[in-house]
Amino acid sequence: MKRTAYICDIASYLDQTITLQGWVSRRRDLGGLIFIDLRDRSGTVQVQIEPGSAAFAEADRMRSEYVAEFTGQLQQRPEGQRKEGLGQYELLATAARVLSAATTPPFELNKGSEVAEDIRLKYRYLDLRRPEMFEKLWLRSKVSAAMTAFLDAEGFVNVETPMLTRSTPEGARDFLVPSRLNPGEFYALPQSPQLFKQLLMIAGFDRYYQLARCFRDEDLRADRQPDFTQLDMEMSFVDQEDVLDLNERLMRHIFRTVLNVELPQPFSRLSYVEALDKYGSDKPDLRFESAFVEVSDLFAGGEFAAFSQAKTVKALAAGELTRKQIDELERVAKQNGAGGLAWLRREGEGFTGGISKFVGSVAAELIARTGVAEKGTLLFVAGEWKKSVTALGAVRLALRDLFDLTAGGPKFHISWVVDFPQLEYDEEQARWTYMHHPFTAPHPEDLALFGTERQGEIRAQAYDLVLNGFEVGGGSIRIHDADVQTKMFAALGFTEAEARAQFGFFLDALASGTPPHGGVAWGFDRLIMVMSGASSIREVIAFPKNNRGADLMAQAPAPVDAAQLAELGIQTLN
Ligand code: AMO
Repeated sequence: MKRTAYICDIASYLDQTITLQGWVSRRRDLGGLIFIDLRDRSGTVQVQIEPGSAAFAEADRMRSEYVAEFTGQLQQRPEGQRKEGLGQYELLATAARVLSAATTPPFELNKGSEVAEDIRLKYRYLDLRRPEMFEKLWLRSKVSAAMTAFLDAEGFVNVETPMLTRSTPEGARDFLVPSRLNPGEFYALPQSPQLFKQLLMIAGFDRYYQLARCFRDEDLRADRQPDFTQLDMEMSFVDQEDVLDLNERLMRHIFRTVLNVELPQPFSRLSYVEALDKYGSDKPDLRFESAFVEVSDLFAGGEFAAFSQAKTVKALAAGELTRKQIDELERVAKQNGAGGLAWLRREGEGFTGGISKFVGSVAAELIARTGVAEKGTLLFVAGEWKKSVTALGAVRLALRDLFDLTAGGPKFHISWVVDFPQLEYDEEQARWTYMHHPFTAPHPEDLALFGTERQGEIRAQAYDLVLNGFEVGGGSIRIHDADVQTKMFAALGFTEAEARAQFGFFLDALASGTPPHGGVAWGFDRLIMVMSGASSIREVIAFPKNNRGADLMAQAPAPVDAAQLAELGIQTLN
């Protein structure tokens, strides 16, 4: 027999004979009748097999996760038993066939989300049978299709770039691959196609995109994988506005086509300094407001020593908090670099608790500036600017989780963070380093600051795309002028010889006729994670690594044969 319908389409076959194929999700024997819940990728429906029917013996040997086929009449369930959606129907089977038997599953599929993640990852092919998992990967596929259609219509050329290459300039640790044909030498897997896409611009391709696999050996988090996918793009003869505009149109197209959600036009924008100063993060979650208020002037030279000398004192208004909650928030602040978390509780027109004995004369001004509600709490961090705002930013997110501050707000909030610093001082190595990558163009009006004490203030033409507090993309306008590139390398402390050793072929290419160009890369997995409401990037990748970088199903990484190592001229120490 041939399948006549996906289960999700059965409604149009009412009272007709159809054949369904799928997996046995559940089997019950009731008073001689057998009920089987049959599942395919589109849905689940109940099949009823009556004793004495030709189908009975075959159905009787079916167990969970057997692959089965049923033919019969599709009917409505008796009135009292009818449920929503597919639960309105049942198939009265006249023929049944086991297409394939299955061993007993190591976990109950319909309890999937409660099962330990390691078990789900070990038996991923079973985990992926769960409808929630299929839905997320289906969404991923739809987004990819919408993206491709849009970019194709906009004249972008899809080009693949190599996996076996040399170190690319994103600054994470490389994954290395030994070369058998060149003993002692290694390829690096690309951290991104950055150099190749710039080379395609130099080659005159004008508009490029690729869904590119990238590899970074970094510590893993809920939104990171060692191999992940970027939507990588590059455009020639454009400025920053052109790149942002195209990306906004693309993102709006995707949300509209796939989720039927209208994103605002244009996306909101804030500068890196503003994002940190108000929300304590370069990827602020703006589904809720809770902005910081600067209050250092109110405490300057005052009695409270910790605040009177501080460069920055930021206040954050919160709801009513218990001492225990404040202690927990202080722990968060300290973990994120603050010396402590000062607090006040509003009582009428004044404050009690915490540092209230120091605020008498400025109480009215504190209330006016922060808008803290009656019984509400004010939280403060003081000290060096970046440390203080970063710590208070972590407190802001802890408050979000504690009070569910995003409830009632928009489901999605998307914004650009622009004007990232060109250079960042690396305290550990005591030298300047690039914030994005060494080919990112600075703002032309800041060029004069290179080589001066103020080079930390140089703004890059670099931008990040932030969705619900996740960095889902980042890019920049690139340097296409040799003098600017020289200044940048000098600021990074690269001699010409060092720059040549690392990027020689690329510098030659840049010198061979480079159009003005810029681009962006989206973290494709991250985007799907946020769009689908998943809490981890692993939920939207078919075969992900766990948080120790292991593929528990395929058991990678794994030791290899001594002979294989010998062929590569490699010895391991353990
Ligand atoms: P960047 O390093 O910012 O830029 O990366 C772009 C986007 O990729 C995503 N991302 C990751 N997703 C999952 N797991 C990871 N380990 C991971 N690392 C990064 C993020 C990030 O915003 N070549 C430049 C782009 C450019 O300048 O055009 C680049 O790779 O969402």
